[in-house]
Amino acid sequence: MEATTGQVIHLADYRPTDFVVERVDLTFELDPTETLVIQRTLMHRREGVADDVPLVLDGDELNLKAVAIDGNPIPESQYDVSDRALVIRDLPTGTTFEVTVETIINPEANTKLMGLYRTNGTYCTQCEAEGFRRITYFMDRPDVLGVYTITIIGDGAANPVMLSNGNFLGAGDYGDGRRFAAWYDPHPKPSYLFALVAGDLGVVEDTFTTMSEREVALKIYVEHGKEARAAYAMDALKRSMTWDEQAFGREYDLDIFMIVAVSDFNMGAMENKGLNVFNDKYILADPETATDQDYANIEAIVAHEYFHNWTGNRITCRDWFQLCLKEGLTVYRDHEFSADQRSRAVKRIAEVRHLKSEQFAEDSGPLAHPVRPTQFREINNFYTTTVYEKGSEVTRMIATLLGRPMFRKGMDLYFERHDGGAVTIEDFVRCFEDASGRDLGQFSRWYHQAGTPVVTVSARYDAGAKTLTMDVEQMIPPTPGQQVKEPMHIPLAMGFILDNGTEVQPTGVSGGEYADGVLHLTERTQSITFEGISSRPVLSLNRGFSAPINLHYDMPVEDMVQIARHDSDLFSRWQAINQLALRDLLKAVKEMTAGATQVAVDAELIAILRDSISDDSLEPAFRAQIMALPSEADIAREIGKDIDPEMIHAARNAVMAAVTAPAGTVLADILDAPRRVGSFSPDAASAGIRALRNAALTWMSYCEPSPDRAAKAFAEADNMTELAHALSVLAHRFSETESAKQAVAAFGDRFAENALVLDKWFSIQATVPGPATLASVEALMQSPRFAAGNPNRLRSLIGSFAMANPTGFHRKDGAGYAFLANQIIAIDKRNPQVAARILTSMRSWRSLESTRAGLARNALVTIGAASPLSTDVRDLVDRMLE
Ligand code: PHE
Ligand code: ZN
Repeated sequence: MEATTGQVIHLADYRPTDFVVERVDLTFELDPTETLVIQRTLMHRREGVADDVPLVLDGDELNLKAVAIDGNPIPESQYDVSDRALVIRDLPTGTTFEVTVETIINPEANTKLMGLYRTNGTYCTQCEAEGFRRITYFMDRPDVLGVYTITIIGDGAANPVMLSNGNFLGAGDYGDGRRFAAWYDPHPKPSYLFALVAGDLGVVEDTFTTMSEREVALKIYVEHGKEARAAYAMDALKRSMTWDEQAFGREYDLDIFMIVAVSDFNMGAMENKGLNVFNDKYILADPETATDQDYANIEAIVAHEYFHNWTGNRITCRDWFQLCLKEGLTVYRDHEFSADQRSRAVKRIAEVRHLKSEQFAEDSGPLAHPVRPTQFREINNFYTTTVYEKGSEVTRMIATLLGRPMFRKGMDLYFERHDGGAVTIEDFVRCFEDASGRDLGQFSRWYHQAGTPVVTVSARYDAGAKTLTMDVEQMIPPTPGQQVKEPMHIPLAMGFILDNGTEVQPTGVSGGEYADGVLHLTERTQSITFEGISSRPVLSLNRGFSAPINLHYDMPVEDMVQIARHDSDLFSRWQAINQLALRDLLKAVKEMTAGATQVAVDAELIAILRDSISDDSLEPAFRAQIMALPSEADIAREIGKDIDPEMIHAARNAVMAAVTAPAGTVLADILDAPRRVGSFSPDAASAGIRALRNAALTWMSYCEPSPDRAAKAFAEADNMTELAHALSVLAHRFSETESAKQAVAAFGDRFAENALVLDKWFSIQATVPGPATLASVEALMQSPRFAAGNPNRLRSLIGSFAMANPTGFHRKDGAGYAFLANQIIAIDKRNPQVAARILTSMRSWRSLESTRAGLARNALVTIGAASPLSTDVRDLVDRMLE
């Protein structure tokens, strides 16, 4: 597989490399604008490859200085160098030989933040997916594994810290102001896991003793002065290391584990072997500046990157089509970790909310693709919610199908069989088949078929026979390149609840497999009969969201109410309440579209909400989740076509007003309850209390037409969770008031020096509903607090506006789309990955009503006509317009 310069790459074309790498020796002579990279690689011709086959190395924006074979410079006639490749001919045959390649690169000019770049004076690398080729010419693909030795040379005063993968070999001074450091990584790895960091950084240190009593040095590097803000990340790291030993028997395998936090980073973080590099947003936290969500993200992402050491690094991907092999699996692992560290039910609710709002949206639009795609033009565009989150759900379904102990056996086999390998999804799935004896052939369609399955259920109870019969139909909608689908193996967790609230187990089942509370759907249509059900049961379906499907079951309202109030499974209760609320919200949109000015909300829903909110036996975080009714985006996705974001906004506001009005005293009780004094703790229980208070403040804003409550909360908040929330209530619900304006200004001034808090300030302002926000976004771009070269700032201002402000971005006159088109074209010139990511905000444009859809289309056409355009953006525009 060759460099991705815009042509389509196919999985079917995979073949191994002609040459096999053994060892890689890299020397960096650091310089801000002219860094010299000397690569010496030992390799041999793969058996069976003809003697005249040349060596083809990938490159990207490199300046080639010299090429040598076995230490001897070769003449220019022996190689061809182009923009994207270095081709060397007449190589030694039958033996191992050494290729030396010298290149010059310019870290300072590297605004794409791929390869070696500078961030706040620190040298830093990012190599996944195809960034290593921006450092040196190499077979830059994940199935080329080598053992790396690294020497870093640079100005000693500017670079007291010099880091790379593996174990530290030594460091020293040359006596002329320059110093060096050397690192050796004994574990063979692909080039995308290479990393180098050099600069003047502060460090937080700790140690971890592994299950076999080895001591590992832990170090987190941050900018000087930010050390105290790395404490929580360190704590999360140690908990992750313990958890992976206990949950999966996985021990860490080097003497040292390092994390570096940088302020310019395209993604969340990167799992480079022994040297994770993080977007500092996912490391730095203290009570004054971080929200509970920030803490939870740090915990999850630190864990995620650490877990990659086994799922991704020790066992890696054969090719980039297998990305979900490491990402889906590792997300599943970090989800399980967080569930064990926090409240499992609340964690699952948050996951499902995120899955539906992001992955279901992607899966139903022009960017839909299978978890394991078969073709791509730009691999950067496949770090998607489908690969990550749906990939995780597919892994979770394997665990559901097999049961936990058998799943663990399959994972053990995977580690045993494939350690040190670069493998495929088929290899992964085979481990679970071999461990369990279960055929996962049909199940594997989850990897290959895109689109969210629609499962339609109808049920009838036969009182005479005491049987319950379920008729089930599954349909997988067509997606780009896949018009016709085969039926899937869908594990549907379910329960039967009787009138008195008890659960009953059927005594027999026909028409399908049902075991351990899981019904296995395998046919396009299926009729399943459950025997021994003594009275008409309420069906609790897709418990825990066992399958990522759209379930259509015309459930009687009284059944929904029963589940909402009594299901033993908290997730099911949330799901039922959410479903009840969604029904009313959809009804309200319909009625208001038809001209109504008032909406009616089901009295049962109001009662359930009020009772749940004031039920002290329910954990506060769960109550907060219940109070977060479906978002405008959720409603839009459910409607699916002819979307008018303004109508949805108005209808949701009306429903919120109706729902919150009768809850006034309950809300006041929550908000006026004596606050815990004493020091802040980010633990889940304390965070839950803050979440409930925040939800109550939001509700109050709908039933009390005054900003005073929020202004008071803003004035009194002693933590960022409540401060930022109070600000957003003021800015979003009372934007015209003096209180809101003052709070926005005060917050900005107070945190003017803290970039990560300013991101919150930008995004709160960018998501103020209504058409006027475009102008404030444009004004904020001129603020000295904004930095057009920083990915976090771009995402917090422009990204939030385009992705999380339905009424602002989807202005009827199309000005939001035109603005975005200009921004994408401008950002693309510096950083194509960030441009492409923000552009995905247009992925559902076809479901808009026709005026907006036409204007959105024009904006996409404008972007498509720009020149030059990166492959990243070009690929997305083409697919969205197809
Ligand atoms: N592999 C990283 C992760 O998920 C994500 C990433 C991809 C980071 C590409 C940078 C570039 O942990
Ligand atoms: Zn990952």
